[in-house]
Amino acid sequence: MRRIAAAIFGVGVAMVVASAVGCTKLPPPTPLAELNAQQTRGYNVYQAHCAQCHNDRTNDPLNGQSLRGIFKKQYLASGAPANDDRVMDAVLYGRAMMPALGSAMTPLERADLMAYLHTL
Ligand code: HEC
Repeated sequence: MRRIAAAIFGVGVAMVVASAVGCTKLPPPTPLAELNAQQTRGYNVYQAHCAQCHNDRTNDPLNGQSLRGIFKKQYLASGAPANDDRVMDAVLYGRAMMPALGSAMTPLERADLMAYLHTL
């Protein structure tokens, strides 16, 4: 009986470790050379409007958290679900120390930006 309990405990520990490792082992962003035309335009929008505050290809925070793997995770840093609407809300209206950037971009640029964010 005790051996079964130990085995169950062992499996539990292994699952916890595996899920913790899973957080940091997201699939890598699509290499820049493999981006399609829209994603490449989005990359340029990102460089112009986001890169000074957010890293996209490393996990290191700048002014804001890294956006690497933003749509591969379930939640944003705020706890909001990581979906197009919530990310676009942050871009349009800002959040805490993040300025509202909606009027800095055309609708096409915003769509291109989202296409790029989905490659991270
Ligand atoms: C001047 C710096 C700055 C710029 C420019 C900036 N951000 Fe942010 N961003 C921040 C900070 C700081 C936060 C954290 C806000 C908070 O504390 O909730 C943040 C948060 C976010 C979040 C997380 C929202 C959440 O619900 O957790 C997303 C997504 C985001 N930014 C995307 C972008 C995108 C895309 C761009 C480019 C269009 C951008 N940011 C430009 C500073 C910036």
